[in-house]
Formats: sequence, structure tokens, C-alpha cells
Amino acid sequence: MPDDLARPADTLTMSLFHAALRRDLERAVILLENPGALSPRRSRRLGRHLLWLTGNLRWHHEGEDHYLWPLLLERDPDGSAVLDAMKAEHDAIDEPLLRLEFHARGLVAGRTGPSEALTALNALIKPLTEHLAHEEGEGMAIASRVLSHREWKEFEQRAWIDGFTAAQSVRFLAWMADGVEWQEPVRRRAGLPAPLYWTVVKPLSLIARVPGPSVWAGTPAARIKSRMAPA
Ligand SMILES: [Fe+2]
Ligand SMILES: [Fe+2]
Repeated sequence: MPDDLARPADTLTMSLFHAALRRDLERAVILLENPGALSPRRSRRLGRHLLWLTGNLRWHHEGEDHYLWPLLLERDPDGSAVLDAMKAEHDAIDEPLLRLEFHARGLVAGRTGPSEALTALNALIKPLTEHLAHEEGEGMAIASRVLSHREWKEFEQRAWIDGFTAAQSVRFLAWMADGVEWQEPVRRRAGLPAPLYWTVVKPLSLIARVPGPSVWAGTPAARIKSRMAPA
């Protein structure tokens, strides 16, 4: 849009991604804490979903490390302490992430039990959620100060979108819409035309309850919403 050059970066998509991540981590804890809800089939499926999730988290972090932090540092050298912390927090997450990936593969292969996977998941959740909150606060404050919205969209395109196939993009967007309560201001910021919202986005926000497409369907985890920190 022409006014994207004139307005500051709106980092809504970052908030949506982080909220979807927190939502699924919370849902996975619920399943792993209730082995009764975890048939062998669902356990394998949960493992596959966690591997998809951790792959997307790595893609997300590497895109930030390679494209975003250097760009923000160039525009705002005084932000170096915050930007260095962003990269350091990503690095610190690597070890618990590796452990979770190991146990997610174990769930798929049937060699990891729910309690081992839960321990690995809980070890990741604390440093990851602290990082997400820090980034949404201080990291995105710098982005909104020094980038136009057009530059933000160009960063997203280069870092994250260009590498996806069409099928991967559809799966990713459906995942991100899951459990979102689309209040009017969020809908407006997302620029969602009403027909697209009512026919596609709104139904997708209920997908967790649908058996078949959702690993969470029929369990208490399906009730967990995607909650964004207030803008
Ligand atoms: Fe992020
Ligand atoms: Fe990050």
C-alpha cells in the first residue's frame, strides 16, 4: 500500500507468530501431562507436530538473526545492547530446542515417553517465552521506530516468505489463525477484507476442534486460544 512507506512498521505478524507458538506449547503440555489423552497414534502425531513447530521456530529465529537485527543495528547503533541480547537469547535457546527435537523424534518413533518429552518441553518454555516477551517489547519498539511498514514487509518477505512453497504458506497461515480471537482492531491492522475474514480466516480460527486436521481435537488442549500481548 502506498502509505506503507509513510507509516511506522506494524509488527502484528510477529505478535501473531509468537502467540501461536505459545498456544501450541501450552497445548502440548496439556497433552503430555494427561497421558490418558495420548493414544500411541496421537503421541506420534504430536511428535511430528512438535518437529514442524521447532523447524518453524528455527526458521523464524534465523531470519531475525540474519536480516532483522543487522538492519536495526545499522539504523539505530544505540540499540546494540537490546539487539545483542536478542541474538544471545536465540543462542541460549538452542540447547533446550535440540533436546525437545530429540524427544519429539522419540515420540514419533515410540522410544520417548510423555514424561521425558514434557521435561524437555518445560526446559524450553521458560527461556523461550521470556525471549518472546523481550522481543515483542524492546526489540519491536526499535523496529517500529526505525523501519517503515514497507521495509518491515520487505524484511518478512526476504527472511521468511520467499523460502516457502505455496503449500507450506497455506499450512503456516492456517496454523497462525488457529485460536485467534479477531477483535476489530486486530482485524483492521491485519488488513483483512471482510469476505476473506468470514469465509476463510474465521473458520480457520476454530480448526483445533476439528478431528482430522488437528492433533488437539477432542482434548482439553483444543480450548486453548492464541493470546497476544496487548499492542
Ligand atoms: Fe520473533
Ligand atoms: Fe526471536
